[in-house]
Formats: sequence, C-alpha cells, structure tokens
Amino acid sequence: MHVRPAGADDAEAILEIYNHQVLTSTATFDLVPRTIREQQRWLTERSGAHAVVVAVADDRVAGFGALSPYRERAGYATTVEDSVYVAEGHQGQGVGRLLLEHLVETARKHGFHALMAKIVGGHERSIGLHRSCGFEVVGTEREVGRKFGRWLDVVLMERLL
Ligand SMILES: CC(C)(COP(=O)(O)OP(=O)(O)OC[C@H]1O[C@@H](n2cnc3c(N)ncnc32)[C@H](O)[C@@H]1OP(=O)(O)O)[C@@H](O)C(=O)NCCC(=O)NCCS
Repeated sequence: MHVRPAGADDAEAILEIYNHQVLTSTATFDLVPRTIREQQRWLTERSGAHAVVVAVADDRVAGFGALSPYRERAGYATTVEDSVYVAEGHQGQGVGRLLLEHLVETARKHGFHALMAKIVGGHERSIGLHRSCGFEVVGTEREVGRKFGRWLDVVLMERLL
C-alpha cells in the first residue's frame, strides 16, 4: 500500500468510491451522484497545496484524500479542510489513517496553520480517525443537513499544524 498524488487517470476510481457514499451514506451531503465530467473538474481544480492523493493497493485505488480551501474570503487562506474516503472493501484496515497522515504532512509542508474536518454526526469511525491523527472536536452544527429523511449534525474537528 502506498500513497501518491492523484492524476487525471484516477477520476473514475475516485468517482466510484465517492458515488457509493453519495447513494448509501450520510457521510457526504451530496444527494445526486457526480458525473465523470464533474469528477474530472474537481480533480483539475485541486493541485499544488490543495492536493488530492490516492492510496494504492495491488495497483488499485483503495481510497483518496483531498485538501480544499476552507472558506473563500482571503483571511481564511491559512486554513484548509480535509476529506478522506476509503473503498468499502478496504475500510478498517488503516487506509484512512495512511491518507490522513499524508494530508496532515502535506498541509504542514505547505505552511498552512489550521486543518479542519467537517464530519456528519454519528460517523464514529471518521471521528475516531481524526482524533487518532491529532484533531479535536471544536464544535457541532446542529441539524444543518438533511438526507434520507433525517436531520443531521456536523461535527467540526480541528488540528493546528
Ligand atoms: C472514515 C474512513 C475514511 C476511515 O478510514 P478507514 O480506512 O476505514 O479507517 P482506518 O482503518 O485507517 O482507522 C483509522 C482510525 O479510525 C478509528 N476507528 C476505526 N473504527 C472506528 C470505530 N468504529 N469507532 C471509532 N473509531 C474508529 C481508529 O482510531 C483508527 O485509528 P487507529 O489506527 O489508531 O486504531 C472510512 O471508513 C470511510 O471512507 N468511510 C466512509 C466515508 C466517510 O465517512 N468519509 C469521511 C468523510 S470526512
């Protein structure tokens, strides 16, 4: 298993992992699966400091992670937000941890000051993953999301770099 920067050729594998969560889980608030075009655009929008990485096992993408700008206004430029998604068959085997540790290092190397994660309430594995990588809970947004007929909280986690 190794982590490498994502390339244009990874769009399909990333799309498959992400859309599975869109359709089956509250982990993302997207309600409609992405198209391959949207996934490609998402990839080309992220480069340099706002990196996308993939974890590869036996030549197949087992998961991906990304750093995205936290908010648009200029004063937020020193903060980034991470996201990590692991293919169903590879979850619980350390892939998420490998990806998140890599993202923390990337964010630090690029000089960012704060790393944020927004995790939908109840996703204990994701909260546990972030905790084990040095994040702490800094707040909860109550019932800001709605999916599958349920109100959903968002837990804010943060790690200063
Ligand atoms: C959340 C997710 C990224 C975690 O990745 P993973 O590869 O399954 O997790 P790992 O095997 O690397 O486990 C990492 C840590 O999570 C924690 N963890 C695992 N299962 C847990 C559970 N059921 N409850 C609490 N913590 C748990 C452990 O602390 C573990 O750290 P350790 O290595 O110190 O034991 C992955 O399960 C996933 O893609 N889930 C669906 C999509 C999602 O929720 N993405 C997050 C959006 S922000």
